[in-house]
Amino acid sequence: RRHVLSLADFSVEEYNTVLQTASSFREVLTRRTKKVPTLQGQVVANLFFEPSTRTRSSFELAAKRLSADTLNFAASTSSITKGETILDTAKTYLAMGTDMMVIRHKEAGVPQAIADEMDRLNVKVGVLNAGDGQHEHPSQALLDLFTICSLMDVEKPRSTLLEGKKIAIVGDILHSRVARSNIWSLTASGAEVHLAAPPTLLPKEFADFVKTSNPEISRKLFIHWTLEPALIDADFVMTLRLQKERMTSHLLPSLREYHQQFGITRDRLKLCNPDVRVLHPGPVNRGVEISSDLMDDPVLSLISQQVTSGVAVRMALLYLMGGGKVG
Ligand code: CP
Repeated sequence: RRHVLSLADFSVEEYNTVLQTASSFREVLTRRTKKVPTLQGQVVANLFFEPSTRTRSSFELAAKRLSADTLNFAASTSSITKGETILDTAKTYLAMGTDMMVIRHKEAGVPQAIADEMDRLNVKVGVLNAGDGQHEHPSQALLDLFTICSLMDVEKPRSTLLEGKKIAIVGDILHSRVARSNIWSLTASGAEVHLAAPPTLLPKEFADFVKTSNPEISRKLFIHWTLEPALIDADFVMTLRLQKERMTSHLLPSLREYHQQFGITRDRLKLCNPDVRVLHPGPVNRGVEISSDLMDDPVLSLISQQVTSGVAVRMALLYLMGGGKVG
C-alpha cells in the first residue's frame, strides 16, 4: 500500500502490522536516545490546509525520530493565499524531493486527489490522510486502537483482540471523521460499537449508509439516540467534540442541554463496566462532551496516553510507507 487514505479497506494483517510496529517504536521512545536512522535522507512534508495541534506536531516528531527531514506547511502562511492551487502546492513539494506527504484539509477527498495525482505522475510518493473533512482520520483511529490494545496486557495485538468488548462512541458523529475511521478499525478488531448522539448529530441515514457500505459490520454496529443504552456495560467510552465550526446553526444544540443529555461524567460511568476507560481524540470542549474532572482523571481518562501513542503509531506508518508498504 503506497498511501493510507482510509481504513475502510484495511485488512486484519495490516492492523496487526501497524500495531506491532508501533509497539517496537514505543520501546525506542523509552530509550535515552529516542531516534533511529530508518528514514535518513527522506523528506516528509506536513501539508495542513486546516488547523491542527496534535496531528501535525505528532507527525513532525514521528518523522524526526525516524531521522527524516521535515517540511511544515500551513495554508494561512503559504502561497495558497495568493491563489496557488492545492495540486500545484503538492507538485511544488514533490519538486523539492518530498517522499511522503501528510495531508489535512477541510474537504473530504483532498488527500485522495493528491495521491491520484502522484500516481498519475508515476512518482513513488506516499500520501497519508491526516483528516479530510467529515470523511476519515486513519492515524487517529489507529492510535486509538493502539491505546486500547496497550491496556489488554497481551504481547501481540490480534484481530480478535476486542472480541466481546463494548465500545461506546458518543457525540457529534455526523461531523466526525474520527468516528468513521474508528467504526472500521474497532469493528474489524472484533468489538461491538455503540453510537450515541441526538438525532440531529446521528441521522439514521448515516448509520444505514455505514452499514450498507460494509455489510460485515452490520451485526457489530448499534445506534442509540439516548446515552444510557450505549453506556450500559461499556468497556470503553469514546467522547467526541461538538464541531461547532462544521455546524449550521439549526444543528448546534444548547451546550448546557447537550451536557445534561450526552455529557460523559463520573456519575454516568457507573452504568459501564467497572474497569471502563474514557477516550477523546481532542481538542476537547471542557464541560460539554466530557466533565473537566473526568478529563483530567489519571486512571479513567486515556486522553494523554492517546497523544503519547500517536507518536509511535505515526512512526510506524511513516516507517512502513517509507519501506514501500503497510502490511
Ligand atoms: N485529534 C486531532 O486530530 O487533533 P488536532 O486537530 O489537534 O490535530
